[in-house]
Amino acid sequence: MNDLASRRPSGPVSVSAAYRRLLGYLKPHKGAFALGILGGAVYAASTASFAWLAKRFGDGTFTHPNPRMVLLIPIALVIIFIGRGIGSFTQTYFMGYVGRSIVKRLRSEVFRSVLDLPASFFDRTSTGALLSRLTYNSEQVGHACTSSVVIMVRAALTVVGVIFWMFWFNWQLALISLATGPLAGWLVSVVNQRFRRYGRRIQDSMGDVTRIAKESFEAPRLVKVYEAQPHLRAQFESVNEHNRRSFMRLILTRGLANPIVQLVTALGGAVVLGMAIRDTVDGQMSPGDLLGFFTALTSIAQPLRELVGVSDPLQQGIAAAESLFELIDEPGEPRGGGYTTGRVRGDVEFRNVTFSYPQGKAAALRNVSLAVPAGSSLAIVGRSGSGKSTLVSLLPRFYEPDTGAILIDGRDIREYELASLRQQIAVVSQDVTLFDDTIRNNIAFGREVPESDLLRVAEAAHVLEFTADLPGGLDAMVGEGGVLLSGGQRQRISIARALLKNAPILILDEATSALDTESERHIQAALAQLVRNRTTFVVAHRLSTVEQADRIVVLGAGEPVESGTHAQLLAREGRYAQLYRMQFAD
Ligand SMILES: Nc1ncnc2c1ncn2[C@@H]1O[C@H](COP(=O)(O)OP(=O)(O)OP(=O)(O)O)[C@@H](O)[C@H]1O
Ligand SMILES: [Mg+2]
Repeated sequence: MNDLASRRPSGPVSVSAAYRRLLGYLKPHKGAFALGILGGAVYAASTASFAWLAKRFGDGTFTHPNPRMVLLIPIALVIIFIGRGIGSFTQTYFMGYVGRSIVKRLRSEVFRSVLDLPASFFDRTSTGALLSRLTYNSEQVGHACTSSVVIMVRAALTVVGVIFWMFWFNWQLALISLATGPLAGWLVSVVNQRFRRYGRRIQDSMGDVTRIAKESFEAPRLVKVYEAQPHLRAQFESVNEHNRRSFMRLILTRGLANPIVQLVTALGGAVVLGMAIRDTVDGQMSPGDLLGFFTALTSIAQPLRELVGVSDPLQQGIAAAESLFELIDEPGEPRGGGYTTGRVRGDVEFRNVTFSYPQGKAAALRNVSLAVPAGSSLAIVGRSGSGKSTLVSLLPRFYEPDTGAILIDGRDIREYELASLRQQIAVVSQDVTLFDDTIRNNIAFGREVPESDLLRVAEAAHVLEFTADLPGGLDAMVGEGGVLLSGGQRQRISIARALLKNAPILILDEATSALDTESERHIQAALAQLVRNRTTFVVAHRLSTVEQADRIVVLGAGEPVESGTHAQLLAREGRYAQLYRMQFAD
């Protein structure tokens, strides 16, 4: 599992930088944060005043018995608790507010950043791990920034308050008590380091758990028909176990840290208490002071425990913040040049383009030179894996060529502003992606469009043909990934989407592969109309759909091996003619 955990690039975000950056997230909520801290301080002051109450109680009852104490002590007790209650509420509410705001902002920032990451990022990152970071890690950051901070402040203030009373009652003994401080501090820092390390491991393993679960749940039919359950169970068991083990290390540290710190405190406390009792017996200390001192000494244990316990979520939060900042800092796609245009004519030229995928060994495209005049169509054929989809994916700059250039209207596509470039291109890709929404929204895809336009493209792409039978028509839901529709229906929605975009350059990558011959013929007719004044790239295995193209290029292992019109290529008796004959052997 280690290879899974280490798959994430370890970023340059250092721990102290993460702290400083988190402060920036707190800044807009200074007021609420301060109120939260104030609440914690009130709580701490109330807790520390128990020692004072104990002294008054001791003095008023044993040393100088005072009948007014009958009323005063209970009233003081109630007041202290009211103070503590107000402090507790203020702290919970305002810190909760700050925490939720930070979680929200972090999520938005991560989401926004990830949307803009280049296609190659998604090739090497699992979406499950991304989801886990977006949900689980951001929660941890929110927790660390707020509850952990307030607990820390509150506990530290309580300790300070209590120590103040100890000095007040007997400074020599207080000094002796404090001698155990450095030892406890050293212990806490050792524990902190471990918490941070384990925190990061747990977050990684959470990512693995999400990833495997997501992949398995997304393909239930595949899993069933190939009886992949045992395999997936084993895989899940492995990451789940890794997650448990990482957690157990954390729990072990957490479990040990507390008793050890407490034991150190108790040993110191025992010595001090012995001395205090001796002083009282000797008459150097009043019973009130002893009672106060004793109360202070015992009430220091709880905040000390909190101080140790809080470092766990705090360190996990820091680790989580680091991983989120890495995502936020991940460089997005190049914005492109400064050139923007309303609508290009559509001359496209590939000039000696060579491209290899970052992970790929061999180049996926080699020395591809092609010119597609505006308004004409180019069909790309070739064996599976010959680079057809890769070729068309370079046009919207999903990937950058290693060498060579691609030009639209004689201008390098890198000179176009990215958004402007992509406005010029509509794509019907090989794997149709639909969102869990209505058919209408999947076609319009977030754009405001007149109903008449929507109906026109739905008609042309033969979407209306099947929506007529659906309850809800165009407003029927498609299900996650479009599961409620057939493959061909999904493809038709995807075609309608591209028609609606009405872009001067159209890419059809196996756009009609899932359609039966009759539907295909109908849609071909619609496409033929559409293609008329657009530059079109058609990728198809079925050669019957490419015959009409103005030009056909045959790719072989990333290189164009033949090109010409259907008739020319048949006459040449080369690769194309061979492919064609195989398909129409009958
Ligand atoms: N995202 C990717 N990362 C790495 N390599 C890839 C990626 N996509 C494709 N490849 C590789 O690039 C080569 C060309 O793939 P491409 O998808 O362009 O083929 P194709 O001609 O479209 O095939 P098909 O007809 O099966 O769709 C293949 O060898 C493939 O393994
Ligand atoms: Mg392909």
